[in-house]
Amino acid sequence: MWERPLRRDSPGTKAPPTFVGVSQKRPTIPTVNPDRLELSEDEMRQLGYRVVDLLVRHFAEMRESPVGAKGKPEELLALFAGPPPESPADPNELLARLAKEVFPNNLHVDHPRFFAFVPGPGNFVSSMADALASGFNVFNGTWLGGSAAAAIELTVIDWFRGFCAFPESAGGLFVSGGSAANLTALHAARAAKLSDDVRNATIYFSDQTHYSVERALRVLGFAREQIRKLASDDRYRLPIAALREAIAKDKAAGLRPFCIVANAGTTNTGAVDPLPELADLCAAENIWLHADGAYGAASVICERGREKLQGLDRVDSLSLDPHKWLFQPFECGCVLVREAAHLKSAFQLMPEYMRDVHRHTAETNPADYGVQLSRGFRALKVWLSINTFGFAAFRDAVTRGFELAEFAEKELRRRPNCEILSPAEMAIVAFRFGKEDAVQTKLVEQMLADGFAFLTSTTLKGVTALRLCTINPRTTEEDIVQTIDRLEKFARSDPWK
Ligand SMILES: Cc1ncc(COP(=O)(O)O)c(C=O)c1O
Repeated sequence: MWERPLRRDSPGTKAPPTFVGVSQKRPTIPTVNPDRLELSEDEMRQLGYRVVDLLVRHFAEMRESPVGAKGKPEELLALFAGPPPESPADPNELLARLAKEVFPNNLHVDHPRFFAFVPGPGNFVSSMADALASGFNVFNGTWLGGSAAAAIELTVIDWFRGFCAFPESAGGLFVSGGSAANLTALHAARAAKLSDDVRNATIYFSDQTHYSVERALRVLGFAREQIRKLASDDRYRLPIAALREAIAKDKAAGLRPFCIVANAGTTNTGAVDPLPELADLCAAENIWLHADGAYGAASVICERGREKLQGLDRVDSLSLDPHKWLFQPFECGCVLVREAAHLKSAFQLMPEYMRDVHRHTAETNPADYGVQLSRGFRALKVWLSINTFGFAAFRDAVTRGFELAEFAEKELRRRPNCEILSPAEMAIVAFRFGKEDAVQTKLVEQMLADGFAFLTSTTLKGVTALRLCTINPRTTEEDIVQTIDRLEKFARSDPWK
């Protein structure tokens, strides 16, 4: 009989079951140490509670804290440099170190005054879901390995399918984010329209399209010459007339136009390309229509978003990031395809060691629909948070993003030295203080050094613009006024003005 030894430091631990009938002569491995990579129940609890305390403090005290910081490379690299330690350390001391050295030295993308790029306003419930998914180490690649996880993922994907008004035949997958969603969708488009033969194929999108699209195309084997990046119109949208012309010219030259990428909310200004007209054009020309809604598509859950996104129900594929405007922590992107079969035929392979997975054809294996086999249970956080708060709360929170950007625009218009470069659109407003490009860049640096709020700059039609992206529902009107006050103050005191 072999008995597992009781953990030395866990008086409350029950004796594990003993296994009777195992030969005493069984050889043992001398290096086995039952303490390796394990904590006692008490230690686990203590560490877990401390982690939760840290998180609760983060959420509760965020508003009164700085928006985060960007450390200097030489200082931060020196802080963590060195070989992996051979001997153990007290996890409480390590946590204290994280709290002091790591978390404050990042920007808090969930902070109510983080208006840069696309913020990541997560929520506590979803963070707990991530802890559960990771703690149970749920394998969400196959039905065999994670049947309930796959069932929840299919449920949440079906929610998304429903609010995008896609047909029953649609399907999709959780991926790491918008970049992976664009890559996944474009691979499906390439397979469906070109049978993977990219020769002479051409693809069209506006100069406002996120760079992940171009990068995905490079990964998929398209040369630069096959990409048509068209100048956007005065509202930063893909111009239909120029697009028609480009397609006609390419066809006349013997090329094969196969895909248009539309924006359902650009990163720069929130612009939405004319989806109904693009859908008509694609139907007439037998072209795949992909919409990059990584940023904006989630807003379709509210009335304001639905108005802006008319025609979204007609696209062939869609990227939609719950880690942006659906308030989930990273990494939580999603790709939807109008005909799920396109995704499956583009990705499914059946090697012999997966025979037990593929024997049951009624079961859905998420790994058959994308590039990942081993994958975490991303859908859990969406499912748990929507169940906890109720969908109406999400709808209201998205609506608030629209309203906050409009409020910011009005507030900016009240400031004499401020020019609006792109009015509030899908929770983004772009502007500048004065006319100097260098002043806008300097303002970004000053805001970062100041730490009260953060925003970033971009280039719009050749001029440097500041932009506020207001999707965090925890942002107040006062946050916006005080942020603009600071910008105005810094702009006024700028010696280059
Ligand atoms: C419109 C758009 N597409 C794609 C992406 C890329 O998303 P991710 O950073 O999740 O890969 C972004 C990111 O901001 C985006 O705004």
